[in-house]
Amino acid sequence: MIPITKPYLNSNDLKHIKNVLSSKILTDGYYQAKTESIIKNYLKSKFVAVTHSCTAALEISAILIDLKPGDEVILPSYGFVSIANAIVLRGAKPIFAEIDPIDLNISFDDIKKKISKKTKAIYVIHYAGNACDIEKISKYAKSKKIFLIEDAAHAFLGKYKKKFLGTFGDIGVFSFHETKNIIGGQAGCISLNNPKFIKRANNILDKGTNRKLYIKNYEKKIISSKNNKKFYSWVDLGSEYRAPELSCALLYSQLLKIKKIQNKRKKNWIVFKRLIEKLNTKKFYLIKPNKKSTSAYHILGLIFKTPSLARKFKNVFQNKKIAATFHYVPLHKSKMGKKFCNYKLPITENIYNRVVRLPLFSEMTNKEIKKISALLFRLFN
Ligand SMILES: Cc1ncc(COP(=O)(O)O)c(C=O)c1O
Repeated sequence: MIPITKPYLNSNDLKHIKNVLSSKILTDGYYQAKTESIIKNYLKSKFVAVTHSCTAALEISAILIDLKPGDEVILPSYGFVSIANAIVLRGAKPIFAEIDPIDLNISFDDIKKKISKKTKAIYVIHYAGNACDIEKISKYAKSKKIFLIEDAAHAFLGKYKKKFLGTFGDIGVFSFHETKNIIGGQAGCISLNNPKFIKRANNILDKGTNRKLYIKNYEKKIISSKNNKKFYSWVDLGSEYRAPELSCALLYSQLLKIKKIQNKRKKNWIVFKRLIEKLNTKKFYLIKPNKKSTSAYHILGLIFKTPSLARKFKNVFQNKKIAATFHYVPLHKSKMGKKFCNYKLPITENIYNRVVRLPLFSEMTNKEIKKISALLFRLFN
């Protein structure tokens, strides 16, 4: 089976993992500091912490903005469950918004319709690695004094105009899960643009303690204060949100080859885009970045005219041993989502079962690309 995605791993990754094991420093070590500083420099962010997942980063974001019962938070229903959980875990109410049927990103018009006096924050996703209407949404959130959090799980190094996705809002979160463009096994990170969050973020990341202030020497794990007069203690909400050193080492190694990985993904995506343009079919369209943005090329996604066409297409591809799958089930239609939502989202409901994901990864062989292209050609030419 040609999979939907495959991480790009080689002996260099192993080298860095072995380094961790031989150092015997398995938390808060060299690789954590290195990856955080590389990502911070890339994004030109004020603060970056590598977490064990994007889900963890989303939970931190909800604590940082102090979500509580009575608050409402707008998010796309067509999205991953982790944003919704982060909101509900704090006792706040998710308000599900529509998407744009062309790029499946949150609809700015619907955000404006869903705003109320209780709205504390807007969470957007840059779906498939393509920028949502981030400039407009960010201006709007500022004018309303509402927090903006960007879920850039798919979109590390994607841009809107010249600015990296994840750096427009107060907080940006990213995923380096095994399924993403670059990986830390299971990892993620949080980037803060709003400096007022930095001190608390360090505490939240460390189980709600101020331990960071007391770590004087990571290598020797010396934790002390001046004259050993004080100790670190519980100062805030928190959990174990940091990534272990093994994940950071893998992520570091992946960051060293990120340009190569991104270029290959882009090249592969463009091959399929050109083929689809040539097919000139009315049976489906390709999900594309908008003109002002640079995609992170995370997903090769098609939207079919009808759910039945999408289903048949998936069957044919899977029978030929090429992965072709659905993506998100709308959150407001899920068992949990229904507890918070009794309204309809016609665009989302109409589109989700017409979406099909096809394989896209950096190490696709020419043979794999040809096999997928030939089948597309045979079906739609
Ligand atoms: C948009 C979005 N946000 C968050 C996540 C969660 O990422 P992680 O698996 O790193 O927790 C995902 C997972 O794919 C996602 O698609």
